[in-house]
Amino acid sequence: MYDGWKIILGIIIFLVVFTIPLWLNIANKADTSIPELVLPTDYKECIAPRDYMRAYHMDILDEWRDKVVRQDIRMFKFKDQVVEMSLTKTCMKCHDSKQNFCDRCHNYFGVKPYCWDCHVAPEEVKKKFATREDLNRLNEDTENNNSVRR
Ligand code: HEC
Ligand code: HEC
Ligand code: HEC
Repeated sequence: MYDGWKIILGIIIFLVVFTIPLWLNIANKADTSIPELVLPTDYKECIAPRDYMRAYHMDILDEWRDKVVRQDIRMFKFKDQVVEMSLTKTCMKCHDSKQNFCDRCHNYFGVKPYCWDCHVAPEEVKKKFATREDLNRLNEDTENNNSVRR
């Protein structure tokens, strides 16, 4: 007897296996398209090379925070200038759109830094008065923390 279906099945399996790299390639291409970031226009360089910043900006921020909060060291040398180690006053001075820079990339990677609970983003600096909600939240926070803070 002539098993035609076996040959057809064989061909189908062959085609599927043979084209797997192609499908994976297409899937990967879709995944690696980094969102469009709005870079500062009035500055050409970051405080470190771009690739380094991409990979290690969170470590720089950690280091800055520790230096400022624990050791009271606030300034660092950047080219010929002395600059403040500050998330809002330094990073966000150049990267003045949190939405189109930090958020765009973080949303893409699914990262949610909690820093903005306390630190102000550039747009919010312009807001003049705290809202009732802000004040309520502040009161709640202080109440919850009375046991640990003096
Ligand atoms: C003097 C202005 C300036 C300061 C201050 C600055 N940046 Fe940048 N940053 C830039 C510029 C300009 C680029 C683009 C660099 C390039 O194209 O080579 C950049 C690039 C980056 C990138 C890489 C973006 C990408 O395309 O992958 C990250 C992340 C970043 N900065 C985060 C920070 C953080 C966090 C701080 C504070 C610790 C900071 N920057 C401080 C101007 C600045
Ligand atoms: C090129 C993409 C990109 C840009 C632009 C970018 N980030 Fe990030 N950021 C990441 C990724 C990816 C992580 C997560 C890294 C990890 O988990 O190891 C991260 C993590 C962080 C963290 C640590 C969060 C945590 O929960 O550990 C902080 C803080 C942070 N970013 C701040 C910033 C700030 C501020 C800016 C804008 C000035 C910025 N990032 C711009 C990609 C980016
Ligand atoms: C609970 C509130 C709170 C949160 C959340 C918080 N910080 Fe801070 N941070 C502070 C306070 C308060 C200081 C001290 C400010 C000073 O002495 O100038 C500070 C100081 C800093 C400094 C140095 C001074 C400056 O102006 O930036 C850095 C850098 C910093 N924090 C980074 C971060 C990063 C990155 C995150 C998120 C991963 C974060 N902080 C989350 C409250 C907070």
